[in-house]
Amino acid sequence: MEILNANLLHPRWRVGEHLQRWRDAGGGEALAIGAGNPAAILAAVKEADLRGLGGSGFPVWRKWEAVAHAPADKDKYLVCNGNEDEPGTYKDRLLLEETPHQVIEGAVLAALAVGANRVVFYVNPDLKRSLAALDLALAQWQGSAMQEQASAALGRPMALELVPSSGHYIGGEETAALEWIEGKFPFPRGKPPYPAEYGVHGCPTLVNNVETLANVPAIVRHGAEWFRAQGTGGAGGTKLYSLSGDVLHPGVYELPMGTTLRDMIFVHGGGLLSGKPIKAVFTGGPSNTLLTPDDLDVALDFDSLRERGAALGTGAMIVVSEGTGIVKRVAEYVRFFAHSSCGQCPSCKTGTATISRLLDRIDTGQGTAADMATLETLCAMLPGSGRCHLVNGVVQLLESSFRHFRQEYRQALK
Ligand SMILES: Cc1cc2nc3c(=O)[nH]c(=O)nc-3n(C[C@H](O)[C@H](O)[C@H](O)COP(=O)(O)O)c2cc1C
Ligand code: SF4
Repeated sequence: MEILNANLLHPRWRVGEHLQRWRDAGGGEALAIGAGNPAAILAAVKEADLRGLGGSGFPVWRKWEAVAHAPADKDKYLVCNGNEDEPGTYKDRLLLEETPHQVIEGAVLAALAVGANRVVFYVNPDLKRSLAALDLALAQWQGSAMQEQASAALGRPMALELVPSSGHYIGGEETAALEWIEGKFPFPRGKPPYPAEYGVHGCPTLVNNVETLANVPAIVRHGAEWFRAQGTGGAGGTKLYSLSGDVLHPGVYELPMGTTLRDMIFVHGGGLLSGKPIKAVFTGGPSNTLLTPDDLDVALDFDSLRERGAALGTGAMIVVSEGTGIVKRVAEYVRFFAHSSCGQCPSCKTGTATISRLLDRIDTGQGTAADMATLETLCAMLPGSGRCHLVNGVVQLLESSFRHFRQEYRQALK
């Protein structure tokens, strides 16, 4: 494991103090409870309806159950996904930087619940502070009473390991992470088989996002009912929303799941920095959908957004005001995704590159009605044609921008 510069740690924290502060705040209590009854961890997470916070919103217990039921005759892995490279998403780095012990405790509890003996923290090497904080926190866990407690509850040694990822955006896709951990280039694998059946080195593997796992200790400590009560409406728990763009107070906000877009922007974000009216919000990161001023009262949770044809994704909210060109913005994001395509699937490699080229042409006043028609055709052809979700995300963004801002595209044509 690479030893990183301790000075990179957040100046508010000292190494030993960090562990002590976390313990003073109840850190380690959930492990003590979970180690006594590992089966109850999965039951609590199921009752809490914890969702995957890496973007999918998939019920966590389903993947956990699949890994828990997989044969335990060889290693079982848990991968804590901290690749975080989606534009506008800044939440996992903050958790790793500010409270790495909470993330470790969450991962260890998840490992106990599914019977995993190899826990891999897979972190983007560009997040230097997060990597340094986690590295030091893991050093404090190695050989500690907490690790012994976890191994005793599991019935075999539980190894905790830090693996810096490649730093590629595509490396955050769960099967790409498995490839990198095996020492290969992070090309996403075809699915099925899913990681729960055939993960790292063919072993059953659970992949969860950093924020997802960071929620587990509180669920175990305070119970599912307490967790659900933290949300509003039908949604449970809290969410780390990454707010950026044209707002007075950009930042990462932990708020009840289901907070409205209006409160997010105008109460917590302080309104628009430019003082102009709001035009749109790239919601869930730029690989998702756009919301407009008509959606200000929508609850920002997985189910409410899905009902509106939108998606919560990573919880990123990028606010743009009147006067911002939507075509230009979409073209910029699509350029990022086209560059990030790993190139394995011809439809994604050429499809995203073609969309990017056509959008640049339209944005610079060179586009034609035929270009628009080609974009529409690609939107119909591409979804589901790739091994991973990257190509679908590009189409989702493009279609959403057409739905709300078609007039702007028409005006930009030659
Ligand atoms: C192109 C692409 C990039 C992704 N990047 C990340 C990432 O950086 N971090 C992450 O947790 N999930 C990322 N995901 C989602 C993972 O594939 C996977 O769904 C997630 O890690 C599962 O964790 P969760 O169920 O706790 O959300 C990405 C997916 C795709 C298609
Ligand atoms: S869809 Fe795109 S990014 Fe995903 S595996 Fe295929 S080529 Fe790579």
